[in-house]
Amino acid sequence: MTENVERVLFTEEQVAARVAEVGAEISAKYQGRDLKLVGVLKGSVFFLTALARAITIPVKIDFLAISSFGGSSTRNTAGHTPGMVRIAKDLDEPIQDEDVLLVEDIVDTGFTTRYLLQTLAGRGPRSLGICTLLDRTVRRIVQVPVDFRCFEIPDRFVVGWGLDYKQLYRNLSCIAVLDPQALDTNVRDPSVPDAHRR
Ligand code: IMP
Ligand code: MG
Repeated sequence: MTENVERVLFTEEQVAARVAEVGAEISAKYQGRDLKLVGVLKGSVFFLTALARAITIPVKIDFLAISSFGGSSTRNTAGHTPGMVRIAKDLDEPIQDEDVLLVEDIVDTGFTTRYLLQTLAGRGPRSLGICTLLDRTVRRIVQVPVDFRCFEIPDRFVVGWGLDYKQLYRNLSCIAVLDPQALDTNVRDPSVPDAHRR
C-alpha cells in the first residue's frame, strides 16, 4: 500500500502523540461535563476513535455522513460554484443542551465544516466546537472557528488515518502525500470536491 506514497508527513507515532495532547486539552477544557463527539463519516472515524480514547472525561459518540453535489473546483477561479453539501445519514440522537464537538478529518476550504456547524447549531446544543486532525488553512475559502487541531498541513493531497483517495488508503497508519503520478489529474488539485474525496 505504501508504493504510491511520495512522502510521509507524520508517522504513526507522531500522530498518536499529538492526538494524546489534543485529547488532554479537550479533557481540560470540558472538565466536569460530558462531551458528545460527532464524527463525519467516513474520514473522521480513525481519528475519532483514537481521540475518544485519549479523552479522560465521559464521552458519547454519534456519526453523520455527508455527500457533496453540484460543485466544481473553487481554487483561484472566480465564477465557479463551490461544492454543496447535504446530510446523507443523520445523527442517531438529538444534541439539544449537550456539549458537542464536531470531529473532522480535515478542514480544507471550510465549506463542509461551515455547513455542518450551521446545521448542528440549529439543534440547540449547549456548546458546539470543532476538532480536526488536519487543517489546511492555506486553502480556506470560508472562515470557520477551529477550536482544536492536531496538524497544519501544506497544499498537497494527503491520505491515511481515515483520509482516502478513491476510498483507499484510509487504513494507512501514517499521514502521507501520495505520488502525483498515482493521482488522476483532477485530484492533483485537492480542491476538486467530487464524491470520492469524502
Ligand atoms: P472542505 O469542505 O473543502 O473543507 O473539504 C473537506 C473534505 O474534503 C474532507 O472532509 C475530506 O473528505 C476531503 N478532503 C480534502 N482534502 C483532502 C485530502 O488531502 N485528502 C483526502 N481528502 C480530502
Ligand atoms: Mg471527509
